[in-house]
Amino acid sequence: MHAIAIDGPAGAGKSTMAKAVAKALNYVYVDTGAIYRTLGCHYEMLGIGPKDADGITRLIGDAYIEARYTEQGEQRMFLNGEDVTGLLRTPEISDYASKISAFPVVREYLLDMQRQIAREHNVVMDGRDIGTVVLPDAEVKIFLTATPEERARRRFEELRLKNPKTSYEKVYQDLLQRDHQDTTRKIAPLRKASDAVELDTTNLTIEESVEAILKLAQEKIR
Ligand code: DC
Repeated sequence: MHAIAIDGPAGAGKSTMAKAVAKALNYVYVDTGAIYRTLGCHYEMLGIGPKDADGITRLIGDAYIEARYTEQGEQRMFLNGEDVTGLLRTPEISDYASKISAFPVVREYLLDMQRQIAREHNVVMDGRDIGTVVLPDAEVKIFLTATPEERARRRFEELRLKNPKTSYEKVYQDLLQRDHQDTTRKIAPLRKASDAVELDTTNLTIEESVEAILKLAQEKIR
């Protein structure tokens, strides 16, 4: 099986690039952020706060999480048999996912499932620690970046479609906080793998970024 790992901070364009690359190569696109978000959803539904270490540890085994892929290659997330995909992309769940992802018990719980998907399919997997921890042997590793202002602008445009009252300043502050949480946690923090190629997408079009990744893939995967 082949694997392309794409890591980077929120709003760098990981999912957009990863989806397009997966489509071009006929690989499965795996959004690991959605897996953390699904677990965040579990705790939110149970009324367990995202920093409640005891509650998180006690109730983790009650979350049966599954990623299923449609014929079109779309990832749907199931929590205890229920499709929760539509609930995952809110600012509250973003914060839950970021906070709970700092607990070792959470990272351990979700690690095998991510590796299992990569054992069964050729994947383009995006996240924070794919090149460093989940798939250290991935043939292609990309670290996507963009300035915080540009990343906040992209997130703002996305959220504004769902909620016209969204404020850019709030999106920007949330993003800085999430960057801080994701890069400073002790276990598997967001960082570039030593053998990853850094791609700054601030001034690149989607097509240019996708092309750069496909070119690397062509060189490395035979
Ligand atoms: O990619 P995303 O914004 O949907 O991810 C949500 C949060 O999940 C992110 O802030 C940190 C966590 N996460 C992680 O710790 N490791 C991953 N591989 C993917 C996401």
